[in-house]
Amino acid sequence: MIGRLNHIAIAVPDLTNAAKEYTQTLGAKVSEPIKLPNHGVTTVFVELPNTKIELLHPLGDNSPIKSFLEKNPSGGVHHLCFEVKNIIIARDHLISNGARVLGDGIPKLGAHDKPVLFLHPKDFSGTLIELEEL
Ligand code: CO
Repeated sequence: MIGRLNHIAIAVPDLTNAAKEYTQTLGAKVSEPIKLPNHGVTTVFVELPNTKIELLHPLGDNSPIKSFLEKNPSGGVHHLCFEVKNIIIARDHLISNGARVLGDGIPKLGAHDKPVLFLHPKDFSGTLIELEEL
């Protein structure tokens, strides 16, 4: 059911420093910081030949990654995003297999303006999973 790995999101305490690690130290191409107020994050996209890394930093007081950074002050992998062809079929398949979809289960537009859903980390070996319909 799941397709390609669309991105790996990493929560970072210092976006400038994290972007520098990826440009200067690892030699990758990164975007300018992009503010996504609807998602409570500022993000820098790292473009790799086979996938993307999204460096996430909290934006605003209700940021969904604020508590993650409190628990992981030096940052860490926040979620993996897999592509699906049809997010409603994928959601219904997951629910019928006992997986928990976060929130009200209705897909929202994600950082790339595509419908996304998040799955409970306890159902996937401690990893928050995002599904994105392409
Ligand atoms: Co994501």
